[in-house]
Amino acid sequence: MLILHKNNNINGLMDADAIIIGAGACGLMCAVQAGYLGKKVILLEKNDQPGAKILISGGGRCNYTNLLAGDEQFISANKHFVKSAFTQWTVADTISFFETYGIYGKEKTLGQLFPDGKNAKDVVAVFTSLCADFEQRLICDAQVMDIAVNEGSFTVKYEKGGKAKTLTAPKLVMASGGLPIPKMGATDFALRFARGLGLNIVSTAPALVPLTITGKDEGWYAQLSGNSVFCRVSNERIAFEENILFTHWGLSGPAILQISSYWERGEVFNIDLLPGQQMGSLIEAERKQNGKTLLSALFNRHFTRKFTDALAKFLPVEKQVAVLTKAELENIEQIIHEFKVKPAGDKGYDKAEAMRGGIDTAELSSKTLECRKIPGLFFGGECLDVTGWLGGYNFQWAWASGFVIARNL
Ligand code: FDA
Repeated sequence: MLILHKNNNINGLMDADAIIIGAGACGLMCAVQAGYLGKKVILLEKNDQPGAKILISGGGRCNYTNLLAGDEQFISANKHFVKSAFTQWTVADTISFFETYGIYGKEKTLGQLFPDGKNAKDVVAVFTSLCADFEQRLICDAQVMDIAVNEGSFTVKYEKGGKAKTLTAPKLVMASGGLPIPKMGATDFALRFARGLGLNIVSTAPALVPLTITGKDEGWYAQLSGNSVFCRVSNERIAFEENILFTHWGLSGPAILQISSYWERGEVFNIDLLPGQQMGSLIEAERKQNGKTLLSALFNRHFTRKFTDALAKFLPVEKQVAVLTKAELENIEQIIHEFKVKPAGDKGYDKAEAMRGGIDTAELSSKTLECRKIPGLFFGGECLDVTGWLGGYNFQWAWASGFVIARNL
């Protein structure tokens, strides 16, 4: 339910042109872009420093964009929603923005761009120094508790040093992020605020998250803990070719994090343990060359010894390739190319790198990211129902949405 309060701040007595809630990737980019345009903003950040997630991203190296980023690598109820923002702020814009401040990109793999010879701290420093140059006020240790939507303004109540304070501005930017990693400052504030205004929320779930295996298969996965295998992981919606990592509680690694964003509880997905090759053809070729070769010896050319040993649970690895029966050959093909996994669950928001779902994009203009029902209110970054793949996509969305909002403040 939207409650309109009488404006408690007469024209000219606003504290800033806009208040931004959350000094993460989206809020910081928004503040800097607003600075270029001569607009004054106040950034309120719950943590004692800005950009907490930028600092830990990419193992402290910050995978700040992806050369391949387009709208196809984003999950949203409206898959077209991101198109406008990505036209207004492109990957090339991200690259040239950071180059202007001495951060040059180096591609690691699959288009993932990291600062060359610099790290995540340098990325955050670009924003803090620009905010200082533009005299944008960044208030840390400031937890926003409540927002009153007035006629033509927003009054933000926050706590700092045990004291309640208020600020008022004609525009409000909600950039307080999503639910992953509560101990790093993540809150459901944006979702609660939006819900309180009667805005629709697309149901949320951890994304880019490791998956757990329990029950009778648990021990089989646990014995492989620490082993990494290059695989093709797929379901009927999507496929990813990257490493999977076995752990004592299930599966992790880039391919698993990717498929987790497309996985629903109770579902099974497939792992092709030898993508791009046909185990049947390899066995056939080996039969012609040396039929006495043990299946385990053939496997050891492609997998670690430990992995081959684990496959003995399902396959006759100690048999010579020449004497494998038709049924055994079919089973080998199935286990190697269509290994079925039914996770029990996921590791939750403590381990997730992103959130699926969020504030329904239908509530916003895709061109401006302004709320259709409440003029002057903008949402950007992870709190929205926009979830990118692993590999710099989520920051590209955070930068792009921060830029678009700044243009419309
Ligand atoms: P973000 O979470 O960055 O910022 C929101 C801010 O709002 C936080 O600082 C929070 O403290 C503050 N806040 C919340 N509630 C508040 C309140 N009530 N009052 C005041 N402040 C409040 N992405 C990528 O592209 N490349 C990568 O390498 C990685 N790596 C990575 C590693 C890990 C471990 C995680 C968890 C995530 C990533 N990501 C990533 C994802 C990326 O970090 C994420 O998509 C962006 O940080 C989202 O930016 P936002 O600005 O929307 O939220």
